[in-house]
Amino acid sequence: MRATSLRATAEALVAPGKGILAADESHPTMAKRLAQIGLESAEAVRRTYREMLFTAPGLEQHISGVILFDETLRQRATDGTPLPHVLARGGIIPGIKVDLGITPLAGFPDEVVTEGLDGLRSRLEEYAGMGARFAKWRAVFRIGPALPTVGCIEANAHGLARYAALSQEAGLVPIVEPELLMEGTHSIGRCAAATDAVLRAVYAHLARQRVVLDGTLLKPSMVLPGTDSGDQVDDGEIAARTLAVLQDTVPASVPGIVFLSGGQSPEQATARLDALNRCGPQPWQLSFSFGRALQAPVLQAWGGRQENAPDAQDALLERARLSSTARDGRYRSDLEDSRRTAVGAVVHDVTSRP
Ligand code: 13P
Repeated sequence: MRATSLRATAEALVAPGKGILAADESHPTMAKRLAQIGLESAEAVRRTYREMLFTAPGLEQHISGVILFDETLRQRATDGTPLPHVLARGGIIPGIKVDLGITPLAGFPDEVVTEGLDGLRSRLEEYAGMGARFAKWRAVFRIGPALPTVGCIEANAHGLARYAALSQEAGLVPIVEPELLMEGTHSIGRCAAATDAVLRAVYAHLARQRVVLDGTLLKPSMVLPGTDSGDQVDDGEIAARTLAVLQDTVPASVPGIVFLSGGQSPEQATARLDALNRCGPQPWQLSFSFGRALQAPVLQAWGGRQENAPDAQDALLERARLSSTARDGRYRSDLEDSRRTAVGAVVHDVTSRP
């Protein structure tokens, strides 16, 4: 019964034409985003901003689920409705980020491990009671000549698998997020090899922890050259390299792969998802779980002013609609509103999330 409902939730999250809005920025990350438009990150500001996102009229046409941060799951809309219920009422599935962030991995300079397993069972129970139906845990890997190390890959893959098993026990679909950072001088080939190694380990650990794969989603980074590599690689090659790795490593029983944007511009992330979907049918749905690629133009249009809320909501709907066209290879750059691509660049942030 539980396995059936996990599968149904996972499939609903990657329903045709729809994807996920990642709005689960931690307090430090949200402070950084708000500082870019000159705002202090106070609880009321975060609440107002996120209520504006979730009440954008018609959002449910292109957005299947929203990942929330702990604080947001507990907040209420202006009319007193809990924010997760605002989403559910509109036909959008609420999810929750459950990891507690990254910390240096002892003995492994420049590498990190994700924390949050202690007490996770009771937190998941509470989140399920508050209406969350899926969860997210992000592991982070830097790419370097000798990175990521086997020690770092194994530690993080184990954490992802334990989290995924606990989430399924609580009735939540785990989104398994291994992110290989774009920052660095590495080639696209090096990124492909590192992504391959990470995904092989992740699926080995998920199997060992008896995770039911058809009740999970994978949230990977795309295979890209490092931001300081100087390499120019077109979207077709990025799609081909990314698919080659995924086909070798991700079991066909996984219902969907929802890419993070990871510091790509909104237009790049959308065009590359489109290129991936142009490569023909795959065993899994290829969708999005974008944070910055959906929100950068929204923040800019909003600027913290109530009177700008309709324009900011339009910016979100526009990005959600364009991302949706990329789900079935119908995106074209001339669909972009040049007014927004110009302003979106101002708050576009390529630095990694803390
Ligand atoms: P970005 O799309 O900004 O990478 O955020 C997605 C996310 O949830 C990263 O954890």
